[in-house]
Amino acid sequence: MKRKLLSMLLSTALAASILAGCAAAPATSAPADTAAPAETTEEAAPAEDASAGGAGGKIGVSMPTKDLQRWNQDGANMEEQFTAAGYEVDLQYASNDVQTQLSQVENMISSGCNVLVIAAIEGSSLGEALDMAKDAGIPVIAYDRLLMDSDAVSYYATFDNYKVGTVQGTYVKDQLDLDNVDGPFNIEFTAGDPGDNNAGFFFNGAFDVLKPYIDEGKLVVQSGKTKFEEVATPTWGTDVAQSEAENRISSFYTDKDIDVWLCSNDSTALGVENALAANYNGKYPIITGQDCDIENTKNMIAGKQSMSVFKDTRTLAAQVVKMVGQILNGETVDVNDTETYNNNVITVPSYLCEPVFADVNNYKELLIDSGYYTEDQLK
Ligand code: BGC
Repeated sequence: MKRKLLSMLLSTALAASILAGCAAAPATSAPADTAAPAETTEEAAPAEDASAGGAGGKIGVSMPTKDLQRWNQDGANMEEQFTAAGYEVDLQYASNDVQTQLSQVENMISSGCNVLVIAAIEGSSLGEALDMAKDAGIPVIAYDRLLMDSDAVSYYATFDNYKVGTVQGTYVKDQLDLDNVDGPFNIEFTAGDPGDNNAGFFFNGAFDVLKPYIDEGKLVVQSGKTKFEEVATPTWGTDVAQSEAENRISSFYTDKDIDVWLCSNDSTALGVENALAANYNGKYPIITGQDCDIENTKNMIAGKQSMSVFKDTRTLAAQVVKMVGQILNGETVDVNDTETYNNNVITVPSYLCEPVFADVNNYKELLIDSGYYTEDQLK
């Protein structure tokens, strides 16, 4: 009943945000001054000739990889929306190779892009290219993942990453009724890529909700792996997550049940799901995820994954297109968080979109009715 109500509320909120665009549904955790102008408007000044690449200018969009479904969607959504708004788009994918991304971004700069939108493979590896952009007066928007260790980042557009983790942790707490039941329950954690600034936010959001129950002994981590570094998954790889999960299953769970496997996203959840299918005979655990990837949504429908967190890439793309327009027109750029995202050099003015809880009860409204997937894609 409680869950039904929650999913109803969440889907109503999502519908509202899709209809009205991300800007109309500011993150609830945003500071009171949500409309505060960015502090770095000077650095975000438009490049000299904004008309160079078409009616609206030329936008360089650098994505990490085509291997994970979400980046294909992010890239396609931005290309479509930028083109519709009259911009020329240079969209590049870097095959998860840092050097490739670096040279792609450098090419975007030398070929006259007016604004760069970058989802980094490794947050702190693009320093040289970012310096070049700054020297050329080209504003840079960090897309989804924060660009680290540089003062050449003008804005950051993402989802509320800490909230993604709290949604996952709260789901586990509610499912196990941890405030009323003694347990103990066994839980394992699988987090993301240590080179991705988001990964720590996801993990901490979930862990902060669950830590009191670990401290109390209601949740037990048989592997003893409770620190981010111990459960991180380089590259976010499904295969990496799978082999680590297989090790933990054979070391700690040959004669015990796993009650929960808290996974930070869908690619790692898939690895854990594969490992469980391959060599685990106990009770099937609660498994969390993020992104509503097609494979994982199918697994939710089949009962092999309990939930995911939906981050509508159309909404983020729309927000970025809007921010680019504001930058190029010299207008105040929409941000709703000027405190959270420090990249070790500056605090980057950010726009945080709302992540949304998804499970088998609300996926139809969220994903099919909204046109994100067709029913056939989930068969
Ligand atoms: C994104 C997640 C994604 C992960 C792996 C993170 O930076 O925020 O949505 O699952 O990267 O690609």
